[in-house]
Amino acid sequence: MKRIFKVTALLLSLMIAFQCVFSSAAAFDDKSMTQEEWNDRYAQLRDENTLPTLCVGADETQLNICWHADAKTAQPKVRLAKNADMSGYVEFTGENTPAETQEQVVCRVTMTGIEKNTTYYYQWLGDNGWSEAYKYESKGFDSYKMMLIGDIQIGGQSTDNPEEQSRIGYVWQSVLDEALTKNPDISFLLSPGDNTSTGKAADEWQTLLMPEYTRSLPLALAIGNHDKKGMMYEYYTHMPNEFFGQYFTGLDRDFWFRYGDVLYLVFDACSGSAADHRAMAAEAVEANPDAKWRIGVMHQGLYAPGIAMLEPETNMLLNAVFQPIYEMYDLDIVFTGHTHMQGRSNFISDGVVVGMAESGKTYKDPNGIIYLNTNACCDQGSMEDMYLWPYTAYAFEDADVTTYSTVEFTDTTMSVKTFRGDNSELLDSITIEKTKGFDDNPVSVFFRTLLYKVVEFLGLVYMKIDEVVVSIRGGHF
Ligand SMILES: [Fe+2]
Repeated sequence: MKRIFKVTALLLSLMIAFQCVFSSAAAFDDKSMTQEEWNDRYAQLRDENTLPTLCVGADETQLNICWHADAKTAQPKVRLAKNADMSGYVEFTGENTPAETQEQVVCRVTMTGIEKNTTYYYQWLGDNGWSEAYKYESKGFDSYKMMLIGDIQIGGQSTDNPEEQSRIGYVWQSVLDEALTKNPDISFLLSPGDNTSTGKAADEWQTLLMPEYTRSLPLALAIGNHDKKGMMYEYYTHMPNEFFGQYFTGLDRDFWFRYGDVLYLVFDACSGSAADHRAMAAEAVEANPDAKWRIGVMHQGLYAPGIAMLEPETNMLLNAVFQPIYEMYDLDIVFTGHTHMQGRSNFISDGVVVGMAESGKTYKDPNGIIYLNTNACCDQGSMEDMYLWPYTAYAFEDADVTTYSTVEFTDTTMSVKTFRGDNSELLDSITIEKTKGFDDNPVSVFFRTLLYKVVEFLGLVYMKIDEVVVSIRGGHF
């Protein structure tokens, strides 16, 4: 009898231990929805615009958040606690900034002091008082995994076609559900731009923020050409270290952040201001001399698969502006989107393939930069036929299927994996092992910097021409 009791006790202990381990990995509560449940949620929320955007902070110990509130009563306050009943909360106060209408302002707050592997609950002060408490679980800081989804491109203009926007929103919800269920250890989501379709409609952002997953998943959103058709990105995001430069105008801006050992440089590739882009990269790299990895993010796909690479804008202008920056600052990988084609390059240096980067393999201290282009999340279907270039290492030819990528860092490795967005089938993977620091083999930048002065000048000339073209065209393509 005693023996049975001991065995039962042991089994119970093991079950509790297993549950603890499992629950610590299950960082995202089940927020899956049927199409009908989503339609109800959409109908309930579609006419509002006060859902908050949870964004990455300047580093892993911070979280940014913003939301719209009534201009007459708005107070930019957030409470953060380690208890679900919000006891022992810490309150953070931010600032109110203008919104797209006079009736509202945008409340912007930064939460600080986030510790690794900790469960938090937070509330923001909205028009109806304190919101309910939402759970945010931080993950590891030194070793972690983040996720990449491109061209979320919520569109459809609800006033004209709410059914279509609801349908698109459900695709976004479903990809998040699939990706986060299979990868509960994701720290944040990185998007290389085209988060919305028209860039002008608040309801696009409302739909983008409808999946409850976004309450617990910080976003790092680059600007795409579709976002740039309007100014809404300005009012619905709160990115860290925004860099407004000397020559940027309107929505133009870059931003950077640090997460663990990784420095993320996020460029607004719709601005040709080379001088500003380089200044941002210099600022970020100088402020993070100890970062082990440097990652670039831009919207248009340098070295993506597809005929779009023949377009002068991508092939010549953007290549001339961005590639030298990536070489000068010795980036490891660059994430792009725009063409709605999932693909990845071999190792490239100054436009030349300097090494193969075969799927499924590990490369130690490679030369060159990998360029990974994302598929589109909600606007499925490529804009053109697939075409594989000599620099293409991997391409997913079924552009009607959504995809997502994960990027996982350990002490010495970065593993990039791409999965189908509907069933998480592994499509492509590559691992880079790094045993050397950036100072072990420094890039000689003297002549590059001199040469780049020409690009900076030509970039300013292009910007002036682009201003005229955009004003005639009525916005970016
Ligand atoms: Fe685009």
